[in-house]
Amino acid sequence: MNTPFFKVKAKAPSNIAFIKYWGKKDFQKPINPSLSMSLTHCQTITELFVSLEKDDFYLELFFEEKRDKKFEKRVEKYFLKLSEYYPKLLNYHYKIKTLNTFAHSAGIASSASAFAALASCIEKFLHKIYPEEKIKSPSFLARLGSGSAARSIYGPFMLWGKTEECEDSCDEQAICFDAQKMEKLADTILLVDEKVKKISSSTGHELMNHHPYKDKRIENAHQNIKIAKEAFKKGDFPKLGEVIEREALELHALMLTSEKPYILINEKTLAVIYWVREQRKRKGIEIYFTLDAGPMFT
Ligand code: PMV
Repeated sequence: MNTPFFKVKAKAPSNIAFIKYWGKKDFQKPINPSLSMSLTHCQTITELFVSLEKDDFYLELFFEEKRDKKFEKRVEKYFLKLSEYYPKLLNYHYKIKTLNTFAHSAGIASSASAFAALASCIEKFLHKIYPEEKIKSPSFLARLGSGSAARSIYGPFMLWGKTEECEDSCDEQAICFDAQKMEKLADTILLVDEKVKKISSSTGHELMNHHPYKDKRIENAHQNIKIAKEAFKKGDFPKLGEVIEREALELHALMLTSEKPYILINEKTLAVIYWVREQRKRKGIEIYFTLDAGPMFT
């Protein structure tokens, strides 16, 4: 690569959904609104170097110092998608260096933080090559790479998807969710299985296209956003916890009841669910669980 004429660095946290995004429509738009919390200790840090060469678009991507061709292919597709909005993006060569502050084998959704950090870099570059234009927000740009990445910008609580509960909400980008009365809310990540099984999120979203409970799921998600909003407003942690747990179980119930069923929770997952509930009941400790599309807990 010739000497870069532009370089930028950005970081972004991963996030865990309290109200789950499960199912897509159009291109990377959610079938229901979702609400998440940033995982501030799980960050992706990305550097983007841009140079001008004689030949066409080219990129190379290094994850933790090593060339990562699999992720490179995905990012290449991402640039092609972005070029539908900003064609000049394909006039350059890019070198991307990225690393996570958390173990990537741990099963924590790293595509959210990865695309959010990259989108933040690209947004800065777009301002340089399109100085006269209003550039889409980093959340909009991140969404085109991975849906949940739209919620890994700003934080600590983000809402994505149109809901009548929030006037500014939309399917194209996430917005900050007011959480003044929940400032003390903290997360702990528990890995219950070394060999974390995860369903690829695109497979999962596809399962929703013809899911027998699709309509009911959409209705529930809207209702749960309403409940969560009220809980946030009043600082009602038990109410919020209740809805978060219900959402986690519903996500897995949807997987269990899809045309091709997926069983991603295991006996360890169940043991932790019982343990969390026991701590609340017997010791009055206010902890609640949520699950991603695997056996892991937050
Ligand atoms: O952003 P994706 O396509 O990786 O989908 C994320 C899906 C869940 O993690 C299961 C739920 C969510 O809202 O983050």
